[in-house]
Amino acid sequence: TRNKISLFTRCLAMSRLRSAMHKGKRAAQEMVETAKPNWNENSIFFFGLPEETTNAALPSAYHTFPDPADVLQLRSQLLNWYDKEKRELPWRTLDSVSLSFLSVWVSEIMLQQTQVATVKDYYNKWMKRWPTVQDLASATLEEVNQMWAGLGYYSRGKRLHEGAQKVVTELKGQMPQTVDSLLKQLPGVGRYTAAAIGSIALGQVTGAVDGNVIRVLCRLRAIGAESTSPAVTEALWGLANTLVDPEKPGDFNQAMMELGARVCTPKAPVCNRCPVQSHCRSYRKVKTISNTSSLPDIEDCGNSGTCLLCPSDPWDDELGVQNFPRKPAKKPPRVERTLTCVVIRPGEEGEDEYLLTQRPNKGLLAGLWEFPCLLLEEENSEMKQKRALCAVISRILGTPLTESLCKYVGEVVHIFSHIHQTYVVHSVRLKDGDTQTQTENAQWLSRSALHEAAVSTGLKKVCVLFTQRVCDGKKQKATGVKNDKKPQASKKPKLGAAKNGGRQLSLSSFFKAVKEES
Ligand code: ADE
Repeated sequence: TRNKISLFTRCLAMSRLRSAMHKGKRAAQEMVETAKPNWNENSIFFFGLPEETTNAALPSAYHTFPDPADVLQLRSQLLNWYDKEKRELPWRTLDSVSLSFLSVWVSEIMLQQTQVATVKDYYNKWMKRWPTVQDLASATLEEVNQMWAGLGYYSRGKRLHEGAQKVVTELKGQMPQTVDSLLKQLPGVGRYTAAAIGSIALGQVTGAVDGNVIRVLCRLRAIGAESTSPAVTEALWGLANTLVDPEKPGDFNQAMMELGARVCTPKAPVCNRCPVQSHCRSYRKVKTISNTSSLPDIEDCGNSGTCLLCPSDPWDDELGVQNFPRKPAKKPPRVERTLTCVVIRPGEEGEDEYLLTQRPNKGLLAGLWEFPCLLLEEENSEMKQKRALCAVISRILGTPLTESLCKYVGEVVHIFSHIHQTYVVHSVRLKDGDTQTQTENAQWLSRSALHEAAVSTGLKKVCVLFTQRVCDGKKQKATGVKNDKKPQASKKPKLGAAKNGGRQLSLSSFFKAVKEES
């Protein structure tokens, strides 16, 4: 069997090389580069096997595509489906000749940790404002953060901006032209993003493995070991590189992603609409188990005892194809409490102004504006920390702030991917409209300016709580209308999620949505 696999993989590598040769010498060289497996002792590879490799490290045919005819058939089934079913997305509407590098770069960075539905609006606004790499390079980080506000993982926008500046200043306006140079030269571009940009924008023949593709491939080839293990990672890249269509690598990769997003979904996959169902080992397993009489023997991995790609847990009938992929257990999020204070002063023409401070340029929410705040430390009492926060505000304003004027408003929970954050919100209203900020990275903003500023979703939630508990409460007092639902500080506030049907909201529409909701 080993010789057969070895012979097959060599033939496959040769045939891929020959096809690349048709496209010219450079394309062939790039193919060799991108198809080159990463040699390490856990690697599973598909383009030629070293003589000394032991059977334990070899993937069985069960986890690969040993028949080239299957590969050709899968490509054509998937691409036909994609041609008919693909969503019209703004970064896909350009015809392939003018498909600009920047569109693909921007969309891929935005799509790294964000859903397509949310990205669309952000992408359209971004490209309208900065249609060329030169335009983006000459923007300020403040403008970039402002545009990115609400999209999350803010370092992505910052890196995109740094990348544009690098292209303009160091690379003389020339975009990197290979997957390898994309990876080396553009900040924020990792293995997947380089492969996606390379295949979609530059026509480079390489597979691209993102979260959706991991799921599709694991199910297709019944790969059930932890999907983040080195062996599985290399196996998946090997599979993606084997399957990618050398004539249409960008479409092929997007079709795999589309299949993962629309058909081979994490929950409730729609196998009966899958164009490549006949190649799916998980689907076959489900069918074989549910109907033993009509199908031949259950196929399985010959090496299951030693195989680095087989699941360690037994198959669960209830899960069906969702037995794959297997993810590592998630670490519970870190629990944090942060004390924050909405400081208000009377502005010109009667409009209130709010004190904002800027976060450091590195780390979580880098460079975004927020109300003065302080991470609560367990060993210190909230009283003590409130005093410390007042001292921070006093330093910003260059004038002492009386602690007792700082009133408790309520609490807001915001979940980051790795932090469960509770903001303990206070507010203080200053009488003196002339109070100036004395430190850098602090400013007074009117509410309308706040709506335009680069602020995080957590801050938006604090604003909503403040509006509901303080501003609306005051209005009711002024109009004499009583709210029978008395605001209760201890009760969890009913806050609109930061999203509305998957779409991130601006601060103004965020307020509106929450009003409509409550
Ligand atoms: N996710 C990442 N890249 C994508 C693309 N080009 N189309 C759809 N979903 C994606």
